[in-house]
Amino acid sequence: MSKYILAIDQGTTSSRAIIYNSALQALTTAQQELPLSYPEPGWVEQNPQQIWQSVLGCIKQALQQLALKPTDIAAIGITNQRETTLLWHKASGKTLYPAIVWQDRRTAKQCQQLKDTGCEPMLQQKTGLLADPYFSATKLGWLLDNIPGARALAEAGELCFGTVDCYLLWQLTGGKVHATDASNASRTLLFNINSQRWDDELLQLFDIPAAIFPQVMDNAAHFGITDPHILGANIPILSMIGDQQAALLGQACISPGMSKSTYGTGCFAVVNTGATVMLSQHKLLSTLAWRLEGQSTYALEGSIFMAGATVQWLRDKLGIIQQASDTEALAQQSSYQQTELLIPAFTGLGTPYWRPEINAALFGMTRDTGRAELATAALCSVAYQSRDLLSAMLKDGVRVDSLRVDGGMTANRWYLQALADLSQTPITRCHTTDTTALGAAFLAALQLGYVNNLTDINRIWQSGEQFQPVLPADSAQALYQRWQRACKALIALEL
Ligand code: G3P
Repeated sequence: MSKYILAIDQGTTSSRAIIYNSALQALTTAQQELPLSYPEPGWVEQNPQQIWQSVLGCIKQALQQLALKPTDIAAIGITNQRETTLLWHKASGKTLYPAIVWQDRRTAKQCQQLKDTGCEPMLQQKTGLLADPYFSATKLGWLLDNIPGARALAEAGELCFGTVDCYLLWQLTGGKVHATDASNASRTLLFNINSQRWDDELLQLFDIPAAIFPQVMDNAAHFGITDPHILGANIPILSMIGDQQAALLGQACISPGMSKSTYGTGCFAVVNTGATVMLSQHKLLSTLAWRLEGQSTYALEGSIFMAGATVQWLRDKLGIIQQASDTEALAQQSSYQQTELLIPAFTGLGTPYWRPEINAALFGMTRDTGRAELATAALCSVAYQSRDLLSAMLKDGVRVDSLRVDGGMTANRWYLQALADLSQTPITRCHTTDTTALGAAFLAALQLGYVNNLTDINRIWQSGEQFQPVLPADSAQALYQRWQRACKALIALEL
């Protein structure tokens, strides 16, 4: 009997396939990096075919690594970069335009207009989100307004809109299923998280025809079956969940008050708020963590757009490191007290600033500024932004006494000590950096009956290394105040 679970983790900068056994132990991983393109300032796009082919390539490679046949897989779970927006023809599956990536801010002006016309409180009340280009709604509006003929086709019901989960499901099922899950839907700015429906008033506001929307399903459900022409077998797809919500589950944050922070391309700190939607007074997002058997669990989220992507910038654009791990040795040559301070607003600023039009800046350079200082500034910038998120949570009445972390950047021990010091918060690294895939695999296991309920995740989650703050609180406070002054100064410049 086939017992393996295949988790697909389609992230912004890479796709991965991880095969788990029925005890949810990861047996093998296949990974492919994915390029992004920046056709105009503020625009971030990805080739949908490349996304799909990389996923397919990873699945095949993972199976090969274990010498498994597709029929050995009992179920597939999908987790994905959220908000990234695609539009394709129902008949052919052909996309009309590249995927507009979550970091894209081409619609910043429309979002400002929504703020100016006083729409934001209504948006927050219905969706838990804010008027920002980060979310799918204005990206989808842009596609309908700028691709010749798209609006007429959409109105005629000949197009499909979807986020990456939905697009992969469509591809895997050979175009038979057009569905998404509640967690991904909750990131579109079009889904009412109270009524759990695409919201007519929002569809009207953003001028989007209802005919292009996918069906919204629970996070563990029978989403469809893979087309045998694609993988050579009929494999059920039994879970779909946005990557940050998946990591919340993979980190076993299943009770209200438990929180995690994932350091991937961006950084997303998420705290479980239970069965109630908690609306932030301090610019955090309310979001759907997961919906199981119609019962929703909600979360509060702080979103940073550049975390690991800042380290990638050091590697790919500055060429001052060969690989991400080089930053650890470089940072050891400098200190938090250095004058250099990087504000990595390469794709605008997220929580709590929400300033999509701002670009990055480096303050405090001297003749001595070199590779070590730049690497240190990059790592510290992610720690300072994490403190921004934890402060916003505290102001909203949520105290994070200790933070569970995961994601690629958490392989860097220097960074984790800096995070503990600069945020003055004890940090716990999980036994695996792959909590995202684990969350998706766990939900598929739930649907298969390999696990009984969410509390079973506690048997799988294990604590890894812990990092305690050693920097005195007043020193950390002084450094953080300098960061806040720099952010304020950059925003005030309005360059
Ligand atoms: O909201 C965007 C987020 O889902 C992207 O995740 O893993 O690519 O940083 P990641």
